[in-house]
Amino acid sequence: MLIKTEKTIPASEITGQSQFLSRRKFIWAAAGTAAAGLAGGLLSGPVHAAGGEYADVPRGPYSAQLPVTDFDYVANYTNYYEFTTNKEDSTRLAKALPVSPWSVTVEGEVDKKGVFHLEDLLKQHPLQERVYRFRCVEAWSMVVPWIGFPLGDLLKSLQPTSRARYVQFTTLYKPDVMPGQRSSVLDWPYVEGLRIDEAMHPLTLLVTGMYDDPLPKQNGAPLRLIVPWKYGFKSIKAIVRIRLQETMPKTAWNMSAPGEYGFYANVNPLVPHPRWSQRTERVLGGSIFTPKRKTELFNGYSEQVAKLYAGMDLKKYF
Ligand code: MTE
Repeated sequence: MLIKTEKTIPASEITGQSQFLSRRKFIWAAAGTAAAGLAGGLLSGPVHAAGGEYADVPRGPYSAQLPVTDFDYVANYTNYYEFTTNKEDSTRLAKALPVSPWSVTVEGEVDKKGVFHLEDLLKQHPLQERVYRFRCVEAWSMVVPWIGFPLGDLLKSLQPTSRARYVQFTTLYKPDVMPGQRSSVLDWPYVEGLRIDEAMHPLTLLVTGMYDDPLPKQNGAPLRLIVPWKYGFKSIKAIVRIRLQETMPKTAWNMSAPGEYGFYANVNPLVPHPRWSQRTERVLGGSIFTPKRKTELFNGYSEQVAKLYAGMDLKKYF
């Protein structure tokens, strides 16, 4: 993003899966069926026995069997330009954001337009946990147990028209509590977009929690997008508007620097960013001695999503 230097977080190794499991007091329920066609490393099935508000949320399909990044890193090293460009300051600044009640306006090419209360949406769409890799374009990565539901389930229930080819998402615009919106670091409000097939893909989540609890404000409460095969800037926070439309929507980072941030933003080690090679990534929570991880095409989700881009030149449509 616009920050050109990153601080190295002095820290121990990434939390091991076993530590995470014991900390979170998981029990392994009767194993769910691994989603058909998934690689051997992916699993489903466990539920939480105790913990936060979402402790009983079952783990959904497509969850990766990976060492989960420690909560403190995920919650205190955040990109939230509405508040600040300093990753370590948004925890404090975002406290002022009112997140309840919250509603989402749905407009454009759908039969069921309207203003929906978040609590009603959450009643209609059962939550599940998905442990996903998350890769920022700044060449750092983490693994997060998100709590949410597939965006595609919501979109189907809204009955898109045949002209709905793209989806645009908009973040809350509230400059009185979001000081970054009083600066011109980006064109506000933050907007993002997906092609309709990307939005409908079962990996794409609307997220309301992480690590058994509702999302911390700095991580995008009360509702954000998570698209695990794309760079993190696609995963827009604090969503207040979802618009289905025929044309490719504008996106905040693309408007700010079109040569650096494409609409697709699929994780791709072979397409360098002007400032970050993208071949490797620093795993959040590691020490300066932790070797960098080799970045994978589509962030390791090729098996699930490569078909969406069959025949496309990924260097041109970056
Ligand atoms: N959404 C909004 N509204 N504002 C932002 O500044 N930053 C993006 C994305 N979503 C951002 C946003 C970027 S650059 C990244 S890498 C991820 O959020 C970071 O998510 P995290 O802070 O929860 O790790």
